[in-house]
Amino acid sequence: MKKLFFLLLLFITMSSFGQTFVANYDESKMPAYTLPDPLIFNDGQPVKNKDDWKKRRTELLDLFEKEVYGETPAGKVELSAVVISEKSGLFNGTAIRKEVQLKLKNKAAEVVLHLLIYLPQSGRKVPLFLGYNFNGNHTVSADPDIAVTQSWVRNNPAQGITANRSNESLRGSDATSWPVSDILARGYGMATLYYGDVDPDFDDGFGNGVHALFPGKRNSSSWGSIAGWAWGLSRVMDWLQNEKSIDAKKIIVLGHSRLGKAALWAGINDLRFAMVVSNESGCGGAALSKRIYGETVERINSSFPHWFCLNFRKYNNKEENLTVDQHELLALIAPRPLYVCSAEEDRWSDPKGEFLSCVGASPVYRLLGKQGFPTLEFPGLEQPVTGTIGYHIRPGKHDIKPYDWKCFMDFADGFFKK
Ligand code: GCU
Repeated sequence: MKKLFFLLLLFITMSSFGQTFVANYDESKMPAYTLPDPLIFNDGQPVKNKDDWKKRRTELLDLFEKEVYGETPAGKVELSAVVISEKSGLFNGTAIRKEVQLKLKNKAAEVVLHLLIYLPQSGRKVPLFLGYNFNGNHTVSADPDIAVTQSWVRNNPAQGITANRSNESLRGSDATSWPVSDILARGYGMATLYYGDVDPDFDDGFGNGVHALFPGKRNSSSWGSIAGWAWGLSRVMDWLQNEKSIDAKKIIVLGHSRLGKAALWAGINDLRFAMVVSNESGCGGAALSKRIYGETVERINSSFPHWFCLNFRKYNNKEENLTVDQHELLALIAPRPLYVCSAEEDRWSDPKGEFLSCVGASPVYRLLGKQGFPTLEFPGLEQPVTGTIGYHIRPGKHDIKPYDWKCFMDFADGFFKK
């Protein structure tokens, strides 16, 4: 009997390993699909004006919460902040760097976030970019004073990361993703924190990170990690908005890849964010799901079972049943400025699908009296197109580069430096 059981187990394991996923990168092999219209209510009635949109927005938000990202708990936490370090005179006397510890606390748990902030030393209130980093604040700059993250990180023996702890050798390793001196020179501030402070990126059954603050029975629409990361960005906003050298009305939330998915969801749920930037956020971010190009719903749910709510799995290999698609997600940012970027070789994130999302979100912007997205034509490389929604595709791989930052800032200048 035992032997039979073992053989059965072996068979199941082998057959599931046998199913290798082959991504579709051929436009001609995509299914025919129809995108849902963001300006049609669930009951088929048209959205005719701004008041109608308010109701339709609630409807769409509800669908994305229940079917995709999960519902964020309404409970509050206490927030306290301690400035851990502060240094002025950086970058030839032009900038200040601060490290701030933010404690989120309630009866159930305590979560500590470590914020790294750079501000021009002008003393004026500045617009600021807020975004998560992938590997810890110490990887953002070679500056030896920035504390090495003590939070859980993914093991990477090649980089000397074992026992899930980072180390000195990674200092500055991600500096090209954070062109601090360019950002400061253009009059912006920058704040970043390690996303693993908010929720370690592995499937632990939602026991750790910010999920620990709201324990209790989970259901098919309980929040996943992306919603947790998005919520964390709002808690940082709670603190940033009271900082005297930051213009609270000009805080831009941005993110690359999975952190771009989180930035989008944060910008949607928290209207205090004045602008949103999605860099190559792909599936479950800016890219349309129904195109079945690159990463698919089934693939993302199996590789990252903790990112979305359980309901999202209903659409594994059944994208046609989704009543929403990601252009409607982008539309939820309207009328605020939104910038989306893709990279030519990053087919996994479906650049065309990201572009088409911008096109599909545009009617909502126009209904709200904004320009939306100015073209139906896929732009050439490094030719940003900008309305209230901006987009570019650059050559190269999945990454966030100084060129991308230049484009975000050119775009942001148009709204915040008039
Ligand atoms: C994987 C994942 C993507 C994600 C990316 C990242 O490639 O499939 O959905 O955006 O990781 O975060 O780098």
